[in-house]
Amino acid sequence: MRYLKIPRLFKTFKSHFAKTNDKNLKKKLFYNIINFMKKYKVVTYGCQMNEHESEKLGGILEARGYEKCLSDEEADVIVFNTCCVRENAEQHAYGNIGALKGLKKKKKSLIIAVGGCMTQQKGAAEKLRSTFPFVDIVFGTDNLGDFGALLDRAVESGKHFAEITENDTVTEGLPFRRNSYPNAWVNVMYGCNNFCTYCIVPYVRGRERSRKPEDVIAEVKSLVAEGYKEITLLGQNVNSYGKDLEEKTDFAELLAAVAEIDGKFRIRFMSNHPKDFNEKLIDVIKKYDKICNCVHLPVQSGSDRILKLMNRHYTAEDYLSKIKLLRDKIPSCAVTSDIMVGFPTETEEDFQATLDVVKKADYSGAFTFVYSRRSGTVADKMDGQIDDETKKDRIMRLVELQNSVNRAQSPAYNGKTVEILCEDFDEKKGYYLGRDEYGKMVYFKHGENVVGKFVNIKITEAKSISLYGDFINVQE
Ligand code: 5AD
Ligand code: SF4
Repeated sequence: MRYLKIPRLFKTFKSHFAKTNDKNLKKKLFYNIINFMKKYKVVTYGCQMNEHESEKLGGILEARGYEKCLSDEEADVIVFNTCCVRENAEQHAYGNIGALKGLKKKKKSLIIAVGGCMTQQKGAAEKLRSTFPFVDIVFGTDNLGDFGALLDRAVESGKHFAEITENDTVTEGLPFRRNSYPNAWVNVMYGCNNFCTYCIVPYVRGRERSRKPEDVIAEVKSLVAEGYKEITLLGQNVNSYGKDLEEKTDFAELLAAVAEIDGKFRIRFMSNHPKDFNEKLIDVIKKYDKICNCVHLPVQSGSDRILKLMNRHYTAEDYLSKIKLLRDKIPSCAVTSDIMVGFPTETEEDFQATLDVVKKADYSGAFTFVYSRRSGTVADKMDGQIDDETKKDRIMRLVELQNSVNRAQSPAYNGKTVEILCEDFDEKKGYYLGRDEYGKMVYFKHGENVVGKFVNIKITEAKSISLYGDFINVQE
């Protein structure tokens, strides 16, 4: 089919090229022609921040005329956007990069690029280069904006390039290839200053840098105008937003300003740090209907001794009192968490304290992790590392407890009508799906495509993780 379009494409190209004096547009048109028929694939590991940065990589590639594809064999450029928060994510990426050796041998023109958190670790670029000499481009988390230029240089010269600089900038104006309509991610800040002792993020993402409020607001406005219905504001610790800006502001003010934007859409945000999560922010969540009553507040551990070793700056009591304040003001507010087991020296008693918080917090969902040693962090050098078997036993007990909490919550949904944002159609199941404001996944059948619409669903079957129901109507 694409071949049939070639004559028409060249005609359009010629006339556009002749008409414009805009250098950037000319460059874009030129790339569209030379990269016509070329394809790219971006492989993403890790968190939403990385998912969102992959959208920027997709945008840079599409501005150069590349088209997205799903298989390695079809691709002319394969980009790995890596994560190093836990060892298994890193191993996974190493395995998948290594698996491309044969393909690169067969297809010499294939460009393989590796970016993201993994490359930003000390000595990682050299390690990648020596383990995988067939990798063409290595770029850091702060060099995303340079990726297009690195790609051009690699394509033109056939040489290898590495570009890894200190994380200290905020780059505005990069194009996006958003993959998650009707949801859109918007960065509010980059980096982290907290140095939790287990975490590699502050080392690979650098110090906190906030985007200017007007840039965030302009981006949300244009997304809403384009028809996006759910905006998730992203930062490693959104509660630190604005501390580095000249103009005095904070996250509560930014959130309120975003909620003042006209239009029917939802707002979520993550992650919060319990030490900085405050009443001013709770009042903003309460004031605006657009802001989902669902807060991600990672506890990590319920043991005060472990929290201190983690450098988290709160106790279990402080944490639970913030949840109490939140629910006193917004009784229906859902809370989700990140919880870790097996931090160095964690005893059965410490672990029981974590289970105790899980029971009291009544989380609507939790991401549960086994502590993973990260080279360069303080916890990596601590005595008392926990053996794998104990970690495995604890994570299983933690997951079972959280599942039982969810099972107990679900029946309250039976017979209720919930407003959900329809996000997708599950081909395999034959169901549409979406989430309510509390983040609960709802499946339903319907004859028309309602993706991107707010719909009312009457719940008929409440399972622990997801709900099933009957379509009632689309909200106007
Ligand atoms: N091991 C396991 N989990 C970790 N996290 C961060 N660092 C580690 C580590 N070294 C988890 C924390 C954090 C989430 C994004 O990842 O729970 O909140
Ligand atoms: Fe890592 Fe702690 Fe920063 Fe979160 S707040 S990114 S866990 S150092």
